[in-house]
Amino acid sequence: MAENILHKATYFITVTDPYKLPDSIAEVAFVGRSNVGKSSLLNALCEQKKLAHTSQTPGKTRTINAFEISRGHWLVDLPGYGFARGPAEEKKKWPAMIETYLTNRPSSLRMIFVLIDAYVGPTKLDIQMCQWLTSYSLPFYIVANKSDKVKLSQQPDRRREIALTLGVTEEEISWVSSTKQYGLKELRSHVAHLLTGI
Ligand code: GTP
Ligand code: MG
Repeated sequence: MAENILHKATYFITVTDPYKLPDSIAEVAFVGRSNVGKSSLLNALCEQKKLAHTSQTPGKTRTINAFEISRGHWLVDLPGYGFARGPAEEKKKWPAMIETYLTNRPSSLRMIFVLIDAYVGPTKLDIQMCQWLTSYSLPFYIVANKSDKVKLSQQPDRRREIALTLGVTEEEISWVSSTKQYGLKELRSHVAHLLTGI
């Protein structure tokens, strides 16, 4: 079996001010609602349990965290959006932090993986995020996580619905489960290719 190069990932840096992030050669980022499983997916892709911090409670990730697979090649975990509780002052800063990050890495940010809850389907905020990314011509790719919560018999309908709502084709959606490890092989290859060209 081919080696998973993402397994080499190590913690690199945490910032709250996106302008303080050093330059990278190539990076991919994970965005989505709080609790959708961004940090869990990053860990699952890297086959490491505790690289990024996860929690059952929304609002766990509050900073921009970069993990490198080799010098200058990063996976970036971001805070979630749509989190209704938590420290108000801190929370207010997250959308600006995320938007500033996403719009200020033009030469290195290769892909933004937008995580959708496969069971809940796309929310208003998910649709807004995709529209916002489109308006800035930023490259994004949909990942439907928590697919283990959708019955097999319902999966084709759910995929169609997500694709229609977000204006992408069904082939443009990765259908994964971070906890059950479904669909990760393909996504790992995609991420590895984006970061290293291999
Ligand atoms: P924030 O950092 O708060 O934005 O959340 P996050 O998007 O990083 O979510 P996190 O990875 O912390 O996971 C949230 C919860 O969802 C945890 O309890 C995970 O175990 C659970 N979870 C993540 N992925 C899956 C999945 O594929 N299936 C199921 N059933 N649960 C999952
Ligand atoms: Mg997180």
